[in-house]
Amino acid sequence: MSRPAPEKRLFIKTYGCQMNVYDSERMADVLAPLGYGMTDTPEDADLVVLNTCHIREKATEKVYSELGQIRLMKLARQEAGAGMTIAVAGCVAQAEGEEIMRRQPAVDLVVGPQAYHQLPELIARTHRARGERLSADFAAEDKFDALPAERNPTGVTAFLTVQEGCDKFCTFCVVPYTRGAEWSRPAAAILAEAESLARQGVREVTLLGQNVNAYRDPDAGGGLAGLARALAKIPGLDRIRYTTSHPRDMDDELIAAHGELEALMPFLHLPVQSGSDRILKAMNRGHTVETYLRLIEKIRAARPDIAISSDYIVGFPGERDADFEATLSLVRQMGHASAFSFKYSRRPGTPASALPGQVPEEVMAERLARLQALLDEQQVAFNAAQVGATLPVLFERLGRHEGQLVGRSPYLQGVHAVADASLIGQIAPVRIEGASKNSLSGVMAGQPQPAPALEPL
Ligand code: SAH
Ligand code: SF4
Ligand code: F3S
Repeated sequence: MSRPAPEKRLFIKTYGCQMNVYDSERMADVLAPLGYGMTDTPEDADLVVLNTCHIREKATEKVYSELGQIRLMKLARQEAGAGMTIAVAGCVAQAEGEEIMRRQPAVDLVVGPQAYHQLPELIARTHRARGERLSADFAAEDKFDALPAERNPTGVTAFLTVQEGCDKFCTFCVVPYTRGAEWSRPAAAILAEAESLARQGVREVTLLGQNVNAYRDPDAGGGLAGLARALAKIPGLDRIRYTTSHPRDMDDELIAAHGELEALMPFLHLPVQSGSDRILKAMNRGHTVETYLRLIEKIRAARPDIAISSDYIVGFPGERDADFEATLSLVRQMGHASAFSFKYSRRPGTPASALPGQVPEEVMAERLARLQALLDEQQVAFNAAQVGATLPVLFERLGRHEGQLVGRSPYLQGVHAVADASLIGQIAPVRIEGASKNSLSGVMAGQPQPAPALEPL
C-alpha cells in the first residue's frame, strides 16, 4: 500500500500483554495516512503514545513515572518552538480516564483500547481546542470495522487479535473492567487479515485474546479449533499459536485439533494461578486443581510432546503456607517449559482488594523467590532435554553474532544457528547442540521446507 512520506514523528511505547503489542501496531497503521512515521526517540516525536497496562500496581506506576519524563521532553520541545502531543492509550486509560490528566496535566488525550481507531479525530480535536479529550466508551466491533484492512507486518511472525474482553471475573483481576465483555471478531475478517499477512511473507500467526479459546465466530458460530483449521489452509501460514487461554474454555474440539493440525504449534499457555483449591475458589477461577490436571492429561494424550506454560500468583489474600506448598507441588507435577509468576497486587475496584488476610510483602517476596527458582529449574531442564534432537526452526532475523540467525522451535524456544540470511522466513531443520535457560543453539541439519510462491500484492 502506498503511503505519504512521513512528515510527523510518532513514538509509541507499549506496556502489558500482546494484545497491546497488536494494538500499538494498529495505532501506527491508523496514523500513517496522516503522515506519521515511527521514531525510536521520544525527544523527537510530534506525537507520543503510551499504550498502557493496568494489571498490577507496578505496571500503572511505571506509566506515571514515564509521563513525568515525557513532560520534560514536551517542555524542551515547546521552548524550541516545536510541539508535542501526548496520548495515553490502553488499559490505564480505560480504568482511570480523565484522572490521568489530573495527575499529569501534560497529557493531551486519553483513549481506551476500544477507541484508538478514533485517534486521528481525537488528535485533530486536541489540536483545535482543549476539551472532549476522553474517548473510552466504545464497542470493539466499531474499532475493527474502522481499522485499515492492510497491515504492514515487520517480520515473518505476526500477532492477530481475534477475541477481546473477559467474562470470567477472577476476583484479583482488572481485565473484565478495562477490556469489557468477551467479544469475537467475525472469522471472515480474521481470515482476510491473515491472508494479507501471508501474502507479505508472514509464516506464523499468534492469535490473541484475553480468553482466546472462548472464541466464537459471531456469524457462523464455530470456535477456535474451526478458525485454526481455516487459517491452516492459507498458503504460507505454516504455524499457528494462540494466547491466552482459560482452562474453562479448553473444549474437546480444540484439544483434538492439537493432535490433528500440523500447523497448530505444540506450546500452550494455560494459566492455573494456584495449586490450592481453597485459593482457586476465592479467586473465582471456576476450576479446581484436579479438573486442571485432568485437562492437561487429555491435552497430552492428544499431543504428547506439548509444552505447557502457565501464570501463577503468590500471596493472594488468605494464602497460607500450606496453600503455597500446594502450588509448588502442582508445579512439580506439571513440569513447565516456562511460566510467569507474580506477587499478588491489590487492584482498586476488584473484589479481592477488600478481602481479609492480605499477605505481607516479605512473605510474598519469599514465596515468589522459591517459586521462581523451581520454574527456572524446569525451564533449564526443558531446554536441555532438546539437546541431540533435530527441530524445525522458523528463522526470524539476524543474530547478534556474524553469520548467525535466530528463530524459534515449535516449542517457542529461541534457537541460534549459523545459517545463510536467505533462510530468514524459512522453516529449516536444526540439530540442537547447546541449551541455556533462555535459548538453544544448533547446526543446520538439512534443507528448508519449500516456501510458498507468493501472489503479487
Ligand atoms: N486472561 C488471562 C491473563 C490475563 S492477565 C488469563 O486468565 O489467564 C495475565 C496474568 O497476570 C494473569 O494470568 C495473572 O497471573 C496475573 N495477574 C492478573 N491480575 C493480577 C493481580 N491483581 N496481581 C498479580 N497478578 C495478577
Ligand atoms: Fe483476568 Fe481471570 Fe479474565 Fe484472565 S480470566 S483476564 S485472569 S479475569
Ligand atoms: Fe495489561 Fe490490559 Fe493486557 S491490563 S495485561 S494491557 S489487557
